[in-house]
Amino acid sequence: MSRMHDSDHSPWPEGYDCVVLDSVDSTMAEAVRRIPVIERPTWIMAKTQTAAHGTRGRKWVVPEGNLSATLIFQPEATAMEAARRSFLAANALFQALSIYVPAEKLALKWPNDVLLSGGKVAGILLESSGRGPFVDWLSIGIGVNLANVPEGVTDARFAPTSLVAAGGETVPPRDFLSTLADAYATQEAKLSRFGFDRIRDDWMANAARLGEVITARTGREDVTGIFDSIDKEGNLVLITGAGPRAIPAADIYF
Ligand code: BTN
Repeated sequence: MSRMHDSDHSPWPEGYDCVVLDSVDSTMAEAVRRIPVIERPTWIMAKTQTAAHGTRGRKWVVPEGNLSATLIFQPEATAMEAARRSFLAANALFQALSIYVPAEKLALKWPNDVLLSGGKVAGILLESSGRGPFVDWLSIGIGVNLANVPEGVTDARFAPTSLVAAGGETVPPRDFLSTLADAYATQEAKLSRFGFDRIRDDWMANAARLGEVITARTGREDVTGIFDSIDKEGNLVLITGAGPRAIPAADIYF
């Protein structure tokens, strides 16, 4: 294990710690184990994960050379405010990836995927806990297919791709993490200075299929409509034949 406050990789954002592990079950689980000892927001990166998971308990496959990292912190945030952090993470990922590939090839897919040339290059997973008005902790897990396309992913609606497969350069995960962590810190600064509206505007500027017809599959129903916006709570807003619908959770298809 190494712990860095970084001079050898730059820029590393002030106010954040970084832990790099060789191997762990999941950086999400490791983040929770470390809650009693963290002193400030901490990025935990692992070169290998043996039990990585994605949204809805799906298995997350991590070939060598891809980024696996979780940011763990204790924001003064309600559950809804904590959940909005997925848009900050998506904006940060867009910014970090656009250093290595043309931004026109990237798009943000609601609620928390990043597409590169139409394939999934990165996913975001939020977990939190708390019984009071504020969450006790929030973890933001990020997987980025940098060097390799994961094999055996058969259940994905958007086939996985990687930065390298899409013509980008090879970026060591630790270097990418610095860029991402810096971009994320900028998003937090924007949130506290300008509020969530600004984050939402930035996200919508890079959203896939905004203004087009998409389908949201909620588990109970399929809702098809024009992708109008995301609202102040991060819900997907579709204009359907029966009027606007705000959808809190779904897989989307287009
Ligand atoms: C998704 O399903 O799209 C989200 C994938 C999140 C994967 C990352 S990799 C780092 C962290 N550790 C995990 O076990 N999952 C997240």
